[in-house]
Amino acid sequence: MSEQNQPTKMWSGRFREPLDSGFEQWQRSFPFDWRLLPQEIAASTAHARVIAAAGVLTSEELDRMVAGLALVGELKLTESEFHNPNFPAAASIAQAEDIHHFVELELTRAIGDLALKLHTGRSRNEQIATDMRLYVRDSIDAILEGLRSWAFALVELAETSSDAVMPSYTHLQRAEPVLVAHWLLSYVSMIERDISRLRNARARMNYCPLGSGAIAGATLALDRLIASEALAFDAPTPNSMDATSDRDFALEFTQALAVIGLHISRFAEELTLFSTAEFGFLDLPEAFSTGSSAMPQKKNPDLTELIRGKSGRLIGSATALSVLIKGLPLAYNKDLQEGQEPVFDASRTMQGMLAVLPAFTNSLKFRYDRMAAAATSGYLNAMAAATYLSNRGVPFRKAHEQIGHAVRFGLESGRELNALTLDELKAFGEHFAEDFYDAITIEAALDCHDVIGGTARARVRAALEDARSRIAVDVEQPA
Ligand code: ARG
Repeated sequence: MSEQNQPTKMWSGRFREPLDSGFEQWQRSFPFDWRLLPQEIAASTAHARVIAAAGVLTSEELDRMVAGLALVGELKLTESEFHNPNFPAAASIAQAEDIHHFVELELTRAIGDLALKLHTGRSRNEQIATDMRLYVRDSIDAILEGLRSWAFALVELAETSSDAVMPSYTHLQRAEPVLVAHWLLSYVSMIERDISRLRNARARMNYCPLGSGAIAGATLALDRLIASEALAFDAPTPNSMDATSDRDFALEFTQALAVIGLHISRFAEELTLFSTAEFGFLDLPEAFSTGSSAMPQKKNPDLTELIRGKSGRLIGSATALSVLIKGLPLAYNKDLQEGQEPVFDASRTMQGMLAVLPAFTNSLKFRYDRMAAAATSGYLNAMAAATYLSNRGVPFRKAHEQIGHAVRFGLESGRELNALTLDELKAFGEHFAEDFYDAITIEAALDCHDVIGGTARARVRAALEDARSRIAVDVEQPA
């Protein structure tokens, strides 16, 4: 095929035959990697500075190139522009194999043949590795903000719940009473771990692949520090083979998102359950619920259900990346292109969830009366009762047994522990006294858990303050 009618490719020189048109369309990544335009512009601008420092571009050429890249970066690419023949970049959109090719085509349109010098001393393999790192880094920063907002909403809700109580559950059977605030703070603890996991992942991935070349390192003596600093990486990556094929950063990111999804999903599951008539612990906020087209009485918890569903999707992204990477020989393989969409999807899915969660959390109205009723019936104070006896020197095993007998007796006569008379109690052990009744009130059943991390009222008040200040500090620190 002659040069004139050969399709414009970044690599067509050694080819005599054109690509099969079906294959050509199918192998393109531009239909999804257009999302990397801001990252590709930033990385290309940094590379332009590197090659200018190496003498490949004059300072005037560098200026023109940087200005041209900025111009290309102003394009507002969106999904719908792909089908808009009047979009200024329509010809490049139709032709571009990937985001790297697109920027080269558009830069050529903007500044002419000077654009063709930009690829000096670099390879798309290091470019995509860099773009993806930048994308993941930007995503982490946005997700950290979202997590903090949700944590604040939970802390706020916990504060308004004051001394409200609810049952806690093990085996989904009522266990002991806890403060509603204590329950809500358990999710804040999960979020704090999620924040630290993302921050760690961010620190581990913050190295710049530019200068790694196709596999063996750039063929020009490039000052890799220039690009690394310009892109706010901590340092250049230390090994070109690893740098061009490493996707640990994407894997860790999607795995961390899968874990966050699990946490959010547990929250969603609890609220779904608590909003049922059987529990009746909350009225679903109408602004976040939907009705049924068939059953007029229905109010359905779509938000929490969708969140459960989307968390499954996040696990899917992490799994897709694991399977993709397993068994890939070093270094770059085109398989890696398939790793982009799970990252984009996970990032957007998580950001979407975090966009609705704070407002949803703010709008939650608990039925504290129902929660309190459930927390004060069904012998949830049995543990406090056994503690009363053990505080009087009864070995815990025996105390447990005596309270067990009292519970059995109460069950048979349909009474709670506080409705049993002292004489009745004394039949189970000699250490019961009048102050027993004070030791099994709801307040006492909370306050006997007076340890760090326990549900005693003073401990939870302190925990709330601690959580609030930890999250506030996190906001002030750069991620
Ligand atoms: N679109 C490609 C990707 O996402 C860019 C790297 C292409 N490199 C190559 N040697 N074909 O992986």
